[in-house]
Amino acid sequence: MGIRQHRCGKWLSCWTLTLQLFVFVFMISTVSGQIRYSIPEEMKKGSLIGNVAQDLGLDLKRLRSGRARIVTGENNQYTELKTDKGILVVNERIDREELCGDVTPCSFSFEIILENPIELHRVTVEILDINDHAPTFKNKVINLEISESATMGSHFDLESAYDPDAGLNSLQNYVLSLNDNFALKQHSNADGLKFAVMILQKPLDREMNPHLSLKLIAVDGGTQQRSGTVNIEITVLDANDNSPVFNQSLYTASVTENAAIGTYIATVNASDADSGSYGLVTYTFSNVKGKSGEMFEIDSLSGKITVADNIDFEKDKKYEIRVIAKDQGGLSDSSKVVVEVTDINDNAPAINIMSFTSLISEDVSPGTTIAVFNVKDADSERNGQITCSVDPKHPFKIQSSLTNYYNLLSDEPFDRESKPEYNITISATDSGSPPLFTKVTIHLKISDVNDNAPVFSKPNYSADIIENNIPGMSIFTVSAQDSDWNQNARISYLLEETQVSGNPVSSYVSINSETGVIHAVRSFDYEQIKQLVLIVKAQDGGSPPLSSNASVKILIQDQNDNPPQVLYPVQTGGSLVAELVPRSADVGYLVTKVVAVDVDSGQNAWLSYKLQKATDRALFEVGSQNGEIRTIRQVTDKDAVKQRLSVIVEDNGQPSRSATVVVNVAVADSFPEVLSEFTDFTHDKEYNDNLTFYLVLALAVVSFLFITCVVVIISVKIYRWRQSRVLFHSNLPVIPYYPPRYSDTLGAGTLQHVYNYEVCRTTDSRKSDCKFGGAGSQNVLIMDPSSTGTMQRIQSEKSILDEPDSPLEVRPLTY
Ligand SMILES: *[C@@H]1O[C@H](CO)[C@@H](O)[C@H](O)[C@H]1NC(C)=O
Ligand SMILES: *[C@@H]1O[C@H](CO)[C@@H](O)[C@H](O)[C@H]1NC(C)=O
Repeated sequence: MGIRQHRCGKWLSCWTLTLQLFVFVFMISTVSGQIRYSIPEEMKKGSLIGNVAQDLGLDLKRLRSGRARIVTGENNQYTELKTDKGILVVNERIDREELCGDVTPCSFSFEIILENPIELHRVTVEILDINDHAPTFKNKVINLEISESATMGSHFDLESAYDPDAGLNSLQNYVLSLNDNFALKQHSNADGLKFAVMILQKPLDREMNPHLSLKLIAVDGGTQQRSGTVNIEITVLDANDNSPVFNQSLYTASVTENAAIGTYIATVNASDADSGSYGLVTYTFSNVKGKSGEMFEIDSLSGKITVADNIDFEKDKKYEIRVIAKDQGGLSDSSKVVVEVTDINDNAPAINIMSFTSLISEDVSPGTTIAVFNVKDADSERNGQITCSVDPKHPFKIQSSLTNYYNLLSDEPFDRESKPEYNITISATDSGSPPLFTKVTIHLKISDVNDNAPVFSKPNYSADIIENNIPGMSIFTVSAQDSDWNQNARISYLLEETQVSGNPVSSYVSINSETGVIHAVRSFDYEQIKQLVLIVKAQDGGSPPLSSNASVKILIQDQNDNPPQVLYPVQTGGSLVAELVPRSADVGYLVTKVVAVDVDSGQNAWLSYKLQKATDRALFEVGSQNGEIRTIRQVTDKDAVKQRLSVIVEDNGQPSRSATVVVNVAVADSFPEVLSEFTDFTHDKEYNDNLTFYLVLALAVVSFLFITCVVVIISVKIYRWRQSRVLFHSNLPVIPYYPPRYSDTLGAGTLQHVYNYEVCRTTDSRKSDCKFGGAGSQNVLIMDPSSTGTMQRIQSEKSILDEPDSPLEVRPLTY
């Protein structure tokens, strides 16, 4: 409207000027001619508009003289009157659009005035339009946003183009660039303004073509057609017309059990062709029931599925999860994810002892069932395949009974004494990699069976005891061991009932049944019994009991408990014995020999002789070993007839025992001399009267004894000879016992201790042994009751020892 007012204003002022001009013309003169020119706009300065002089019929002089000039008129600056040529030329560029705007036709008028006389001529110049403007759009770009859901036939008004040219040169038409979706429709306003409307012919699809670029061309109708273009940028707005779609209907994945939390499983992906929030897909798990849903986690934006909890193959081997993809418009799709769990060897086998005998007798046979157990492994396949074993050092084996059930059997006989208990380790190993194993140790005790007899520390014992012991004295201790246990190893010691010298052994010794200490029951006499052999039995407390025996030899040791006994010269209370020494006897004359014995043995029976007292010590000496009494100087007439010697016989025991013998010696050449001398020689007058009688009696007894002795010796020798032949044939290693005997070797000067077992067997001794009296001995022997007592004792010893071969009956006396 502003433009129009402006134009109108111009137009009004023109009008008033024209009116004034008319009034003026009326007032001063006549109005002569009127000319009209048409020129196109935009002519160059100086271009000819018209030949005014000619058209007005005026000559050039008149023009000059009349000072023809253009007067009035608003737009007279456009033209110039060239009076010298009488032409009207363009003085200034004329823009029709500027001059008239929309007004057509466009013209301006002015008057040319001449003076002398005044002439007024009206010239109208019509400005013809030329197509000097193209239609233009105000903006370069038209931006449109159209939803893809826009319905067909929807109108979209477009900006109009403007072309200031007039008429045909002005905007004539709109053209839309080629496209599928839109058609163009043109409308004209009441004022003739043309505008275009786009009509949707085919639905838009953002997903196919989210953006359309069109061109709207406005054209005018000029001969030289001009056009203006505007870009129409159409953004297709999204509509949630697409659901999310998973790219797979089933996803499979696998996961090892015990996988760490956060372990990647799979990524699901659903695409939604929509954009913006309609295309934003979020993922969730659906229909997750119970635990399985908590096992996994899905990233709602990326669709990444990860482990969310500890997966245990032993609980679930497979998971099926439904995944929902949803866009923000509420459309969704679903898919399934199957997760296979792979087993790993995470479970050790379990050993379960079903039954077990913890105590078993040592005499059970191999193959006895000791325990029954079963094994389990929660893993599967190889990881659950179990092999069982038992320590090969021990005598056990494993046998499978049922599947996964095993028997533990003994494989060898037991011996409690060598191994009383076993720690049996059963191990179960699966076949996984690496394998897992479990060990179970059971403690088996072997119970005792009385299968071992007591064993003595030695099979034969020997012990010493000194004679004359106190009855009840302990002699020796035997000891036996039993490798069994408890009652089976409780040992009692017993004495086997045997005979010793015809008496039961229990009359000599007893044994403490618990301690094995052997006690003497009585006092032993070496001279009666020299050794004792007994059998001790050790018996255990088992049922039945087992026993073993050992022999114990008890050697009785001699003690010097017997003094020497003088056999010769016989000492009698009343009798008188005298040795005769002739006055002519030389030095070294053997007067007599003191004969003594000692029933002890060894050192205790070693005898030595000493002269204790003598009437004349210078005349006699006693051989300290042989007891021979000899003269040591020539006997003289001055020597008394009656000589009295006292000889002490000592044994070598500790302490030594001794006996004293009084030897009467008569130094005389004749018996009557002796008798006369000896009347006062005796201590007792009574016996002197009977002397002769006793002498005769003694001789008779000695002769009888000698003959008896010879007979006995001969008969013994014969018996022994026979016996030795029998022994030889029987081949028995019988060593007869012979008591020790002493013999001294003449001239050696020392008494040698010789055990002579062949006393009465040697041919040499046969003649000389067992005789009383010898060469050069004119001794007078008078038997005394005490000497027969000695013989009796010898006899009784013989009966106790009951040794047929014993030469004890003969006391070997060597002169
Ligand atoms: C058996 O095991 C027990 C306890 O571990 C132990 O005291 C005993 O000495 C073991 N026995 C053997 C024979 O190894
Ligand atoms: C001693 O034992 C052995 C075997 O152990 C047996 O033969 C013998 O008869 C036993 N002796 C006695 C005297 O019991």
